[in-house]
Amino acid sequence: MAPAPFPVRFVEFAPYTDGGESAVYPDRLPFRMVRTKRGKDRLALRPARSSDGDALQTYVRALSPQSRYNRFLGGASELPASELARTLAANGRDTLTLLLTSAAEGREIVVGEARVALSCAERAGEFSMSIADDLRRLGVGSALLEEIERKAAADGIEWLFGDTLRTNVGMIALALGRGFRLEPGLEQRLLRIQKRLEDATPDLPCRKWAEIAGATELHGA
Ligand SMILES: CC(C)(COP(=O)(O)OP(=O)(O)OC[C@H]1O[C@@H](n2cnc3c(N)ncnc32)[C@H](O)[C@@H]1OP(=O)(O)O)[C@@H](O)C(=O)NCCC(=O)NCCS
Repeated sequence: MAPAPFPVRFVEFAPYTDGGESAVYPDRLPFRMVRTKRGKDRLALRPARSSDGDALQTYVRALSPQSRYNRFLGGASELPASELARTLAANGRDTLTLLLTSAAEGREIVVGEARVALSCAERAGEFSMSIADDLRRLGVGSALLEEIERKAAADGIEWLFGDTLRTNVGMIALALGRGFRLEPGLEQRLLRIQKRLEDATPDLPCRKWAEIAGATELHGA
């Protein structure tokens, strides 16, 4: 088995934040609908907004302790404030926070989330994700990961990876089912799941971002 080519992690569950990045660019990722296998649920996938803090924190608190442990690779009852701020400060380009939501009684509820961080220079992206406990085994995690792969490939990212506990049977099975390979983790207790995105745009990675930044500068000048 080839060694993992990317020793660093891009998404850290770290107790600090820079908080300085701008708000999400909603046009960067179209609002998408996700259907579950049981058919009746219609979920929306959208980038997180700066106003989503309470909804996201409520979601994290409602996860089972085991799910939170699996998701954050350690015990945490909620997101530390600094981590929450960092999550919501994703810029929609090289850092992305996605929320999966359902509508109940006219209210939007978060039922899943993912974080993605892309390195254009290395053409590599890291992701982490979770789905609400009562929506498991309905194909939602698979659909979310497929969307992450699609988005990364469209940005010219060639390698997508995530770190998971060796004991996380569900995530490992899901990843294997989507063609990821298992590599040694950064720590003994971890495995790296990694996939080469065959349909990565063979263009200069993240070219679109440079174009958008250029256009913004022109308009702003
Ligand atoms: C891992 C996780 C995202 C899976 O989400 P999900 O919506 O249940 O996954 P899916 O329904 O798309 O499952 C797709 C396939 O993955 C495999 N799979 C998923 N969960 C599994 C489990 N607990 N045990 C065995 N296989 C599992 C199955 O092959 C499944 O297909 P099947 O249901 O037709 O058999 C979810 O369990 C979760 O959020 N866990 C807590 C957080 C976490 O572990 N995050 C990963 C760290 S990055």
